[in-house]
Amino acid sequence: MSQTSLSVQGISKSFPGVKALDNVSFDVRPGSVHALCGENGAGKSTLMKIINGIYQPDTGTIRVRGEEVRIKNPIEARAHGIAMIAQELNYVPEMTIAESFFLGRLPMKFGRVDWRHMRTEARRVVRDEGLDWSVNRPLSTLTVSEIQTLEILRAVYHSADVLIMDEPTSAIAHREVESLFAKIRALRAEGKSIIYISHKMDEVFELADDISVLRDGAAVSSQPAAQITRNQVIAQMVGRDLDHQRYPKERIEIGETVFKATGLSREHMFEDISFEIKAGEIVGLAGLIGAGRSEVIRAVFGLDPLDTGTVEVEGRPVKLSNPKKAIAHGVAMLSEDRRLVGIIPKLSIKKNATLASLKRVVHGGFAHARQEQKLVTEYFQKMNVKAPSTETRIESLSGGNQQKVLLARWLIADPKVMLLDEPTRGIDIGAKFEIYKIMTELARQGRGILMISSELPELIGMCDRIYVMSAGRLTAELTPDRFSQETILKYAMKEAEVA
Ligand SMILES: Nc1ncnc2c1ncn2[C@@H]1O[C@H](COP(=O)(O)OP(=O)(O)OP(=O)(O)O)[C@@H](O)[C@H]1O
Ligand SMILES: [Mg+2]
Repeated sequence: MSQTSLSVQGISKSFPGVKALDNVSFDVRPGSVHALCGENGAGKSTLMKIINGIYQPDTGTIRVRGEEVRIKNPIEARAHGIAMIAQELNYVPEMTIAESFFLGRLPMKFGRVDWRHMRTEARRVVRDEGLDWSVNRPLSTLTVSEIQTLEILRAVYHSADVLIMDEPTSAIAHREVESLFAKIRALRAEGKSIIYISHKMDEVFELADDISVLRDGAAVSSQPAAQITRNQVIAQMVGRDLDHQRYPKERIEIGETVFKATGLSREHMFEDISFEIKAGEIVGLAGLIGAGRSEVIRAVFGLDPLDTGTVEVEGRPVKLSNPKKAIAHGVAMLSEDRRLVGIIPKLSIKKNATLASLKRVVHGGFAHARQEQKLVTEYFQKMNVKAPSTETRIESLSGGNQQKVLLARWLIADPKVMLLDEPTRGIDIGAKFEIYKIMTELARQGRGILMISSELPELIGMCDRIYVMSAGRLTAELTPDRFSQETILKYAMKEAEVA
């Protein structure tokens, strides 16, 4: 009787101090891509976790192909044909491809795990996909994109009809996005439903058949993509018209060099990297995933060792052999992977935000605590951090809101130089604009900013200069007259013979 592969009705869910979902209903059609849009903290991941059995709803019902079901855990979700391709990939690195393929449903034969069957089946599926992976490879040897492919293959093998993808392109490279999209379209053609969460409107409008919008835990609208415009979706997400241009770039007087790196090398990672950042300047570092951009700034910040090279801050040679020294010299870094060098999950938002406070590190005192509290509050309002209070544990925030707290940490630290690795990843449109404005304000105060970004429009819109890396080497330094996506991509894909 049902025309829906999945239908949720009247779902509500509260966490202490937050109503994450308030009476949400939505329907997903078979053979469609259904985009779910909303600002950070709107409730998207929570809704998906309920459908996947990770959380139980306080009220509401879920129907799969018309039949009401109760989903107590992800294994039951899979039994109902629902599979979630996770936002943060959690896996056991030692596990092999074949093992992960049958995780939670090991094939048994005569009371024992049938390892041979596992390997044969996994090998067949991988081959059918045209991949030449050995199924005995441990997962730790796969890239994020390969693990994603594996998760999709596994879901389909176990006959999932509804695939949930929560920000699937946030950590994969340009050309991997293309092949992911091709896969999504093929799944749709087979009659599967894909629920697709993304903050990137280009992706949403490229892929989606239907679009639903959540705002503050409530369903605002749901309609065919052809019946709504990009600006209407954004207005529904934020609850008002955004009347500003996309990039608040200002003309700022560029001053002296505040940061200079010369001849940086690290074996197998990058070679002979030299760059500088001037006061008031926003400098971009472009390149494909794997080009070595993050590795360079990690080494500069003292997280990884350098084999050769020198660093100067405000004209003075310094040795930034660990992050503490880097911070003491006025260098801050926002890391790409917030789980590794980012959040401390069990600590409060406030503690996480003030962790790196420069003045405290330098002067060792608590005299600035009140000033800090003021700044925390100020930045939270500007960036619209959604949380019950600054005492809330950071682990309970939505992905995008955690990222905002980390950014606030470095803003409060008052650095001379900021190295930002994908500062707006996972951040909603309204807050992105606020972050650009904050970057502009910092530049106006004479600070220097280096920004790694995989979003070329963002680099072009905000930077004064862009360096491009490919395969561990700098391949170009571009001034605004040469800013274009084509030019950046050309150098990002250039085989790095000496430029
Ligand atoms: N385990 C939890 N404990 C407490 N609060 C939570 C928990 N999980 C989510 N929340 C809260 O529920 C709200 C919705 O969060 P959710 O993760 O669903 O947002 P989201 O739409 O996925 O946002 P983002 O785009 O930033 O990923 C937020 O206010 C968040 O802080
Ligand atoms: Mg989320």
